[in-house]
Amino acid sequence: MTTAARIRFNPFDAGFRRDPYPLYHRLRDADPVHRALGMWVLTRHADVREVLRDRTFSAGLIPAQVERRVDPGARIVRLGRASLVFTDNPEHARLRGLVNRAFTGVAELRPVVEGITDGLLDAGPVGDAVADLADPLPVRVLGAWMALPADVAGRVAAWTHDIRFLLEPGLMKGDDVERVTRVLDEFVLALEPVITDRRRRPGDDLISRLAAARTGGGDRLTDEEVAFVAIMSFVAGHETTTSLIGNALLALLRHPAQADLLRERPELAGAAVRETLRHDSPLQMTKRLATRDGTIGGRTVAAGEVILLCLGAANRDPAVFADPDAFDITRDTTGHVALGDGLHGCLGGQLAQLQAQVVLERLASRPFRLRDEPLQWQTHSQIVRGLTRLPVTWGSV
Ligand code: HEM
Repeated sequence: MTTAARIRFNPFDAGFRRDPYPLYHRLRDADPVHRALGMWVLTRHADVREVLRDRTFSAGLIPAQVERRVDPGARIVRLGRASLVFTDNPEHARLRGLVNRAFTGVAELRPVVEGITDGLLDAGPVGDAVADLADPLPVRVLGAWMALPADVAGRVAAWTHDIRFLLEPGLMKGDDVERVTRVLDEFVLALEPVITDRRRRPGDDLISRLAAARTGGGDRLTDEEVAFVAIMSFVAGHETTTSLIGNALLALLRHPAQADLLRERPELAGAAVRETLRHDSPLQMTKRLATRDGTIGGRTVAAGEVILLCLGAANRDPAVFADPDAFDITRDTTGHVALGDGLHGCLGGQLAQLQAQVVLERLASRPFRLRDEPLQWQTHSQIVRGLTRLPVTWGSV
């Protein structure tokens, strides 16, 4: 039996959850285009980036995995066909062109992010850096950017939690599909009056900007499309940002010399966030569907086959990043694929990085240490790598 055949890739394995990187290294060395779980599993940076940039691979996995299980008129079917994450060109280009017009001016949100972060830190002893800080922050920031009315804002965290499977539709079981379909309807119904109001009385919030976005030819998003962008921003931007913040705090706790360096040079906070994205990528994997027969890394991939792109493995490829397992906030992270690449490159990466940067900047005045209690890695998702619990004690200088 070859070494490659003996490697068992199982993203749900508890050991893999704790530390996936040794297995990624073995796969990359022995079998970089690996067959497992009915998919092709890619771990080399060059292969992952090539597929991300190649428009002939489809992102349309919702139609394939969900449509046959729901009523054809269900809103989730329309979401699958009208959301950036799941559409291919020409629909993707149309949507992205309009949405890009609204997702600007992120740097101006800094005072909002700072205010919400300080509010969470001041609210009481932060005993769990995930539950008390990293988890609520992204939902509140997005709610503030959208200027959601209080009654809607208060329900968004629960809705977002309930429909988080939209990030990986293949994992939904029968009950999940039913719940996601129901909650999606509720979420859209709550946003509809907000969208109508912003069309009448536009402000500078994200919903107003999405509603107002126009192409040169006069095309614009429908109300339902505006609602889908808002909802998918919560889905794609919540757990990922929470995990980025948690993974950054954990990396600094595990690498005290790097934490000291950051305290001496707080201007490195942005670089520390980028190094976290590379070193412990919050979104470890994404998928594509082959639409034609071809080869990847010398292996034949047939039309209709699913390809799992291990972003977290690509970001530790020694062919691109020297000493890839080292956490070094001064390194050049150019080329990391933690936020994707090509057409579907992350829409909200700047917003997520701003939030993590503000949290790290606050560490200068609020040192913290890890309490001697077990860490908990999330277990419901195949693709997100993040903690559900990070027990810390915060102090002040
Ligand atoms: C650290 C946090 C984040 C990480 C690691 C992350 C990662 C990614 C990755 C890897 C992709 C590409 C997926 C693919 O090609 O299949 C992506 C796309 C996307 N992200 Fe993020 N993301 C984060 C935060 C956010 C936030 C805050 C938002 C929204 C406010 C967001 C919205 C999106 C959307 C809408 C797409 C799809 C873009 C398209 O298909 O054109 N993300 N993200």
